[in-house]
Amino acid sequence: MKKIVMLVALVAFMAMSVVAFAAPAGPAGELTVTAKMKSDKKPAVKFAHEKHEALACKDCHHTWEGEGDPKKCSECHTGRKSGEKINNKVALHKSCKDCHKKMKKAGEKTGPSSCKACHKK
Ligand code: HEC
Ligand code: HEC
Ligand code: HEC
Ligand code: HEC
Repeated sequence: MKKIVMLVALVAFMAMSVVAFAAPAGPAGELTVTAKMKSDKKPAVKFAHEKHEALACKDCHHTWEGEGDPKKCSECHTGRKSGEKINNKVALHKSCKDCHKKMKKAGEKTGPSSCKACHKK
């Protein structure tokens, strides 16, 4: 009897680990986001996936279907300010800045929304 209980526990534990490993995770640590503009005037922005774990990958990687690594924003957002494909700076500002601002307004804990706090030297 004891053996069966232990076996069941072991199987359950193994199944849980498989789920944990199968769930996609953003890369660990801080990465530097670059807009790939002709004139990089502002200090580059540091971004940590760990601080955004509560969000769904698709909240940001909005075209990603969950297979392989998501494409860089700059691969698609190469265009001008207007039209279907906004440029990478506008895409990132709309994504990062707008979310932080909206949450701040709602009184929720969120990331920075001032230029200097994101574009840190
Ligand atoms: C809050 C926005 C946001 C969320 C949520 C998010 N990511 Fe990212 N991720 C980014 C940005 C921004 C980059 C940098 C992309 C670029 O440089 O164009 C990135 C880059 C990546 C990269 C490439 C890293 C590299 O070194 O090039 C992978 C892989 C990735 N994300 C996976 C994920 C997965 C999986 C999830 C969900 C568990 C996720 N991300 C959630 C914003 C996000
Ligand atoms: C495979 C191509 C592709 C990738 C990769 C991609 N985008 Fe987009 N994005 C588009 C297209 C096309 C549109 C316009 C149509 C739409 O709204 O879906 C768009 C629209 C947007 C919009 C809405 C613009 C508006 O006018 O409201 C934002 C914000 C955005 N992208 C941010 C990002 C960010 C941030 C990343 C990287 C984490 C990213 N995108 C990666 C193709 C892409
Ligand atoms: C959909 C909402 C959302 C989007 C999009 C988003 N963030 Fe955030 N961000 C958050 C929230 C929520 C936190 C607070 C997390 C915490 O501390 O619990 C945060 C925290 C941060 C922090 C502070 C981390 C710290 O050390 O306290 C930075 C920096 C940041 N975000 C940068 C970015 C950048 C750069 C992007 C775009 C590539 C981005 N965020 C996109 C919601 C968002
Ligand atoms: C929530 C984070 C965030 C805030 C707040 C923010 N930015 Fe950005 N900005 C980014 C990201 C991410 C990029 C793309 C990465 C890069 O190139 O630095 C970017 C790119 C840029 C670029 C193009 C690249 C370059 O270095 O020239 C300029 C210019 C810029 N931002 C100006 C501003 C100004 C001005 C403000 C304040 C009104 C501001 N940003 C606020 C995240 C932010």
